[in-house]
Amino acid sequence: MVEAVKGVRDILPDEIRAWHFVEERARDTFERYGFREIRTPIFESTELFARGIGEGTDIVAKEMYTFPDRKGRSLTLRPENTAPVARAYIEHQMHRRSEVERLYYLGPMFRYERPQKGRMRQFYQIGVEVLGSDHPAIDAETLEMLVAFLGRLGIAPVQLVLNSVGDPECRPAYKEILRRYLLPRRESLCEDCRRRLDTNPLRCFDCKVPADRDVMAQAPAILDHLCDACRGHFERVREHLDAFGIAYTIDRRLVRGLDYYRRTAFEVTAPGLGAQNALLGGGRYDGLIEELGGPAVPGFGFAVGEDRLVMSLPATAAIPDDAPEVFVVGLGEAGVSAALQAARRLRGSGHRTLVEPLPGKSLKAQLRRANDLRARFVLILGEEEIQRGVMTLKRMSDGSQATVRLDELDRRLGEMARA
Ligand code: HAM
Repeated sequence: MVEAVKGVRDILPDEIRAWHFVEERARDTFERYGFREIRTPIFESTELFARGIGEGTDIVAKEMYTFPDRKGRSLTLRPENTAPVARAYIEHQMHRRSEVERLYYLGPMFRYERPQKGRMRQFYQIGVEVLGSDHPAIDAETLEMLVAFLGRLGIAPVQLVLNSVGDPECRPAYKEILRRYLLPRRESLCEDCRRRLDTNPLRCFDCKVPADRDVMAQAPAILDHLCDACRGHFERVREHLDAFGIAYTIDRRLVRGLDYYRRTAFEVTAPGLGAQNALLGGGRYDGLIEELGGPAVPGFGFAVGEDRLVMSLPATAAIPDDAPEVFVVGLGEAGVSAALQAARRLRGSGHRTLVEPLPGKSLKAQLRRANDLRARFVLILGEEEIQRGVMTLKRMSDGSQATVRLDELDRRLGEMARA
């Protein structure tokens, strides 16, 4: 038997309701704030991610699904969607249409990571990107939307962790300070961090090796080395968040695993997710569009890990029911034919209706089946009913039943549902 490959999984019908619930709430919330959906391709030129996310990042260096197509072009399954959205924004000259463009997306991403609880090789993200303004109000309002979204899912309280990672004005000087701190400690660092020391020492903050973490815990923090503009920006983001009454903590050591971030960077962790407790991450990326060959357009966004979001839903989440409203039982072949006609009518007037052609099965067995499916009503078409040109409508919650004609079915169903 051929099985699914390591690190991917099927989302089965029993689970999918929670996914739909999350996706519907996402669309509804984001659209209230003026976001519109964008769908980009699942694969892109490898170069887009190398340039966008950064050659020195774990994602680009170790985690991409990269392959040549039949003409030898290097393609990559998207490991994230900010770079593809930026590419689409440039390609379609979206900056000409409106000054501030608000976009959202939902879909699969691919990273070759070691699979564990909450970490998959194909996973799903729900993300947003705001392009066209570097105003701190954008950061704060988008975070407020995020908090509202999580609140509407019943996921609260969450821990919002915030930092500023500076910009090209202040980061180079800070990198030197960090390098000077790390150089005398080089020998105690892991091999990866020694390499990072030469390429991008900020990445050392991401290291999971305990000894390295101890070293980094004492390291100078970028927050203490911001230029005036970045410091002012961060203060204004915080003022807006405070005005919204949104709680957050500052983590001076928070750096994100992608190189495009500038100024605001944040993550939200959720309890109960285990080691992979980052529910989402995001931040500002004011240089990315230019880096990819577009105009100087600033950006801000986040992406939520949908797999982790679904895992974090409370048991009380208002996930809509998918049980049939009416289960139609046709006894004998004539009953099945009549059942099809009745079901068609019910569906035409908007009722979720199920017919299972089981003419030989007893009424009792079919009622048991309806009960297992949690159907609210059963419509019975037996020999006697067919002869009389009627049907029996049975409410499963209390067993009450009525004899109805086809032309009054809809009305009677409505009455019994309300009673
Ligand atoms: P990221 O932090 O790499 O950011 O990913 C965002 C979220 O995707 C993570 O917090 C996590 O919930 C989920 N995620 C990442 N990798 C996996 C995995 N292997 N399995 C399951 N879930 C995973 C970004 O991707 C940025 N593009 C976010 C962004 C948008 N920044 C600005 N705009």
